[in-house]
Amino acid sequence: MSERATWATRVGFLVAAIGSAVGLGNIWQFPFKTASNGGAVFLVVYLVAVVGIGLPALLAEFVVGRKTKANAVDAFRKLGHPRWRVIGAFGAFIGFWIVSYYSVVGGWVGRYFIGSVTGGYFDAPGQYFGAIATGPEAILFHGLFMTATVTVVALGVNSGIERATKVMVPGIVVMMLGLAVWAATQSGAAAGYSYFLNPDFSTLLANAGDVVPFAVGQAFFTLSLGMAIMITYSSYVGEDTSLFVDGGVIVVMNTLIGVLAGLVVFPVLFANGIDPNTTKAEAIFVAMANAFSQVPGGRLLGMVFFGVVLIAALSSAISLMEVVVSYATDHSTVSRPRLAVLTGTVLFVMGLPSAWDTAWLGWFDTLAYKLFLPLSVLLLLLFVGWVLADEAVEQLLLGSDTGWLGPVWLWTVRTVVVLAVVATLALGLETLLLGGDIVPPV
Ligand code: PHE
Repeated sequence: MSERATWATRVGFLVAAIGSAVGLGNIWQFPFKTASNGGAVFLVVYLVAVVGIGLPALLAEFVVGRKTKANAVDAFRKLGHPRWRVIGAFGAFIGFWIVSYYSVVGGWVGRYFIGSVTGGYFDAPGQYFGAIATGPEAILFHGLFMTATVTVVALGVNSGIERATKVMVPGIVVMMLGLAVWAATQSGAAAGYSYFLNPDFSTLLANAGDVVPFAVGQAFFTLSLGMAIMITYSSYVGEDTSLFVDGGVIVVMNTLIGVLAGLVVFPVLFANGIDPNTTKAEAIFVAMANAFSQVPGGRLLGMVFFGVVLIAALSSAISLMEVVVSYATDHSTVSRPRLAVLTGTVLFVMGLPSAWDTAWLGWFDTLAYKLFLPLSVLLLLLFVGWVLADEAVEQLLLGSDTGWLGPVWLWTVRTVVVLAVVATLALGLETLLLGGDIVPPV
């Protein structure tokens, strides 16, 4: 067992956590889920979910991590409640589940990045996705994405994760801002903004059963909740940090990047005459590639766009791998690099079905959103709200000068937030069972 790492700088935790939060969830899924769930209405429900449910849950994960300074499984034992270890183990399992296909999508992004450099998709942007998204090609790029992730995690918390994300996160922000300015000049800008930002509440009422579980699931996914990630990252944080402030900064930055992604993607979709209501997972790739193949400077724009998405995806995959590697380094004498390679290999194998056929990818994703994430977050909220209770408030308030927020947080976690997650889970299960999504594709 080696000595436990801590973030070298205060900002180290912030950038690593923002790097984890900002990812494919914000840039690939968020615009596409917004589009297929009623546009701006989805945005409103999502924002309410992020602030009202996501932020309190994020703080709950922080409390467990910082109080115990342990990996996400042993944390519960250290708190004197060994049975609740199941939360950490379940979280790590969900992380595996998600990163297995996340890495496949990360591979597509890497492929499109290279396609932007070489101009590979410029002649037939519509066909390119079909050619690269499944089969051996997809497997190869899935493997490359995993290799990059393993490399950073193998280097450790400070020289790997902290150093890498300190460069990655500011890069993401600057490049997204630049892209949003460019998108504003596109002919579809006005129609895109209006679709994204003008809510039509009648569709919400008609589709609440679909919209709400997706929006809440999206809030969890995008804040990297329910996967033991934020427990792990906050276990490297000191008592002088205000968890409220850092949690708030993470939520704001993460939301900003998601909204910026919408401000980039929707104008481009509309400029290319693509109806956002019919978009699928590949729409963003196809539409963006199509746009880049036509506009002046398309190669450079393509490199920037797919480059940002790639960096964002990597900094998220890294955080998940750290959950497992941190547990394993606490329990074995095997070196960190070897453990990282081992974890990467398991993830690679788990991702093979998704790389082979995108129907699997969709199935993995749907189960994660509608079932696993809400269930995992619910267990954590029950534990922190009702079992840890006052101990949790005490821990949350260390390093903070907004003491009155402590009890407010506890009571919201115990009541409103728990009920909202139960309702989400019920709605998600209903659509899963009725929609028949629970049967795996073959
Ligand atoms: N928060 C990430 C995102 O929005 C989700 C994620 C984190 C997925 C970590 C996998 C691992 O993309």
